[in-house]
Amino acid sequence: MTTETLLLNELVAATTRRRTFAIISHPDAGKTTLTEKLLLYSGLIRTAGMVRGRKGGKTTASDWMGMEQERGISITASAMQFPYKDAVVNLLDTPGHQDFSEDTYRTLTAADSAIMVIDAAKGVETQTRKLFAVCRMRRIPVLTLINKMDLPGRPPLDLMTEVEQALNIHASPINWPIGSGSDFVGIVTRADNQVQLFSKTMHGGASKVETDILPLANLGSHRRIEQDTMAQVHHDLELLEIAGNPFAREPFLQGEVTPVFFASALTNFGIESFLDAFVNLAPSPGMRLADGDDGSELLVHPTNVPFSAYVFKLQANMNPKHRDSTAFLRICSGRFERDMVVRHHRLGKDIRLARPHSLVAQERSTVEEAYPGDIIGIVNPGVFAIGDTVSVTGGFNFKPLPQFQPEIFARLRPTDVGKRKAFDKGLTQMAQEGTVQIMRSYHDQDTLIAAVGRLQFDVLQYRLRHEYRVETVLDALPFSCSAWLNGDPSTFKSPSASMLVKDQRDRIVVLFGDQLMKSIARDRNPDHTLLDMG
Ligand code: G4P
Repeated sequence: MTTETLLLNELVAATTRRRTFAIISHPDAGKTTLTEKLLLYSGLIRTAGMVRGRKGGKTTASDWMGMEQERGISITASAMQFPYKDAVVNLLDTPGHQDFSEDTYRTLTAADSAIMVIDAAKGVETQTRKLFAVCRMRRIPVLTLINKMDLPGRPPLDLMTEVEQALNIHASPINWPIGSGSDFVGIVTRADNQVQLFSKTMHGGASKVETDILPLANLGSHRRIEQDTMAQVHHDLELLEIAGNPFAREPFLQGEVTPVFFASALTNFGIESFLDAFVNLAPSPGMRLADGDDGSELLVHPTNVPFSAYVFKLQANMNPKHRDSTAFLRICSGRFERDMVVRHHRLGKDIRLARPHSLVAQERSTVEEAYPGDIIGIVNPGVFAIGDTVSVTGGFNFKPLPQFQPEIFARLRPTDVGKRKAFDKGLTQMAQEGTVQIMRSYHDQDTLIAAVGRLQFDVLQYRLRHEYRVETVLDALPFSCSAWLNGDPSTFKSPSASMLVKDQRDRIVVLFGDQLMKSIARDRNPDHTLLDMG
């Protein structure tokens, strides 16, 4: 075999093994616990509990450091990579806070699939709903894990109906719970009617769970199963046979069906079979849509096209010891090698991808090679913006990342006018990262900021204070939507509760108090066009 064939075989094998995914959930549904169990069942940690650190605490940098030292885990500030059985998983980090954040949405564009974790007592919650909507928009296949089955929860059939109705997707249960709350003892796999019965572990889920496997037909004679539980399981399974959605992989990959699993991440009940099903069902990196330089659309194949990637996230000042900004790239095709020279499409010039790294806690480690689906961090000497494409061949740009309409607006100024320079620098950096959008008022050039959620303002003020030493005053403005204005601004008849501003590219934007004001403005100004931002 030639070296070229060998390299291609290696690329195909590495790509096929990759599973790049994100966990979408409402805070507290169990994302951290599930992540920890992935590490436990991958054999990378021997005892769960390390990730969560001290009781009640979330993952800390030193926990990650410790785990990385154990072996085989590589963590960027954006993704964590480790082997799970035959697969190599890249778990993207989606911050789990309550607020709406563009960053999370952009991160989802880098995922090939998502795991949706739902709390069995709470059902589909707001954050899950929003994140799911993005997966739907991007046609990202979603697996559903109904978690916390060891606690009193809602009936499984109700939960199935809720998933279908709230998210408008077909839900197809792959397994079904036997009992619930403290009586949750096992699951039935519907495809082969095999039962897994679990025994409680000594340390409440810190180590792998012991499992007995038996045919469903033998379950009735099992001493641990109550008659009522048996009857309920048979009743539910029969109903599902008649009314449920059969599972097929193709509609799942198209985002039309979500396979549903029941489990308890805390006690490990049902977790291993879920994770196994996940690596079986979830797709490896596929083709990505791009715009060719000649205006045509094309699909970039992960293994037929030499290295290409796009920037989905920028983050400045991640490490106080190195004051710089890191661009996170998702590899879409080909093999990446350290120091390779690639075409930066937007700038139209060649750049060297020097110092690629993964960041483990505060320490950097250099990446020598990477494959489609992997995330690399490149120290960004001001050349990268969100959405930039780089490749060996040039000639195309990956589709632009989704932008979201800002819904909140504020005037922002430094408390100390002497800090204006640092203020401008910090704000520009934060706008480049996509934390906020900067606008200027049309008449007096005041600095305005716009974002999708309040949290982004808090993050902005916090980072200006800590990274740029600038205290700021923020005055909220009474607007909730906006539109670009096409036409002469001097003849535009503004409704009350509106304001004219300019965005960063000097386009004129009108801010409105509410949607009603926006439609009144449209009616009153037939010679102008109001284009929705986004
Ligand atoms: P998140 O990352 O999605 O925010 O959720 P996380 O995993 O931190 O879980 C939130 C809480 O729910 C944690 O409890 C966790 O132990 C618990 N939990 C997660 N999965 C299960 C489950 O399957 N069953 C039960 N009973 N509980 C579960 P906590 O009290 O906030 O933290 P801790 O004191 O346990 O560390």
